[in-house]
Amino acid sequence: MHNIEQLIAQATAEFAGIDDADQLEQAKARYLGKNGSLTELLKGLGQLPAEEKRTVGAAINRAKDAVEAVLNVRRNAIKHTALEAQLAAQALDVTLPGRGQGCGGLHPAMRTLERIEQLFRSIGFEVADGPEIETDWHNFTALNTPENHPARSMHDTFYLENAPGVLLRTHTSPVQIRTMLTHVERHKHLDSLPEIRIICPGRVYRVDSDATHSPMFHQVEGLWVGESVSFADLKGVMADFLRRFFESDDLKVRFRPSFFPFTEPSAEIDVAFMSGTMEGRWLEIAGCGMVHPNVLRHGGIDPERYTGFAFGMGPDRLTMLRYGIDDLRLFYDGDLRFLSQFK
Ligand code: FA5
Ligand code: MG
Repeated sequence: MHNIEQLIAQATAEFAGIDDADQLEQAKARYLGKNGSLTELLKGLGQLPAEEKRTVGAAINRAKDAVEAVLNVRRNAIKHTALEAQLAAQALDVTLPGRGQGCGGLHPAMRTLERIEQLFRSIGFEVADGPEIETDWHNFTALNTPENHPARSMHDTFYLENAPGVLLRTHTSPVQIRTMLTHVERHKHLDSLPEIRIICPGRVYRVDSDATHSPMFHQVEGLWVGESVSFADLKGVMADFLRRFFESDDLKVRFRPSFFPFTEPSAEIDVAFMSGTMEGRWLEIAGCGMVHPNVLRHGGIDPERYTGFAFGMGPDRLTMLRYGIDDLRLFYDGDLRFLSQFK
């Protein structure tokens, strides 16, 4: 009996000196484990005379309960201390001001597109849309582009595998055809066709990459078809648009004679950088011209009665000019240090 009381006192003292959960479990094993001292005592019961067995057995069981109880108290104390330590280490100062949410901003390319849309809407243009995956017919054939034209080669155009006659549009000009066809269909009951005045902003794709060419870039197509639309209208609309876009009356703009299969006559429009490392240098920002009679025919419109002008602008180039940026690819690297300057 004396031995049992001693074991309880010893366990209590030992547990009290332990601060670590694992060590506590090891200490427990020394009393209550398979070879623990209380377990050994129980094993020894068999050798005792019958009348002692009961009292000693009961005493051992009480001792086990006592040791378990002390153990639990210690376990909880260790758990509590650990939690306190964790809470202290991860203390939150709830009185600190919040970090706030950084303010996002539109990508400079989108900013330019929105500006262009706003300016053209203000002079009565609507915004049209077309698919980025186009048919060869809409992208080339209907635009009077001959079968052997270099733009149709694999070096210039992304074709889709296992889809003959389908490609990533190389310009927004196929929207001219789509717009004319739906417009004619919608107004076929009328004697004369209402004017078409649209722009179409969107993504286009070419096998191309350098400081002023990116494999994916944006274009804004423009189309005005009516009974007496002339090249003078084209020049007036574009010159006025550019002055308003760049908010400058001294903007240097030039129309340079050029060639496109889908316009005749054709021109390219250049604008000079007004700031940055490229100041004074010309940058081509658009192709344009009077819509070719064959293109009007493919759109279902009588070229004897109607004329039109079209243009295809590179808004990414407008963004370069507006902010004096000399490499177009910066817009598509996704570097926030660069992009956040435009917020
Ligand atoms: C065309 O794509 C014609 N469809 C434009 C057109 C439309 C002419 C209607 C007549 C009538 P071009 O390939 O030149 O033309 O491209 C037009 C504009 O897109 C260029 O002036 C340039 O500003 C921009 N551009 C062309 N290629 C790239 C490129 N890889 N990266 C960025 N901008 C480009
Ligand atoms: Mg060009």
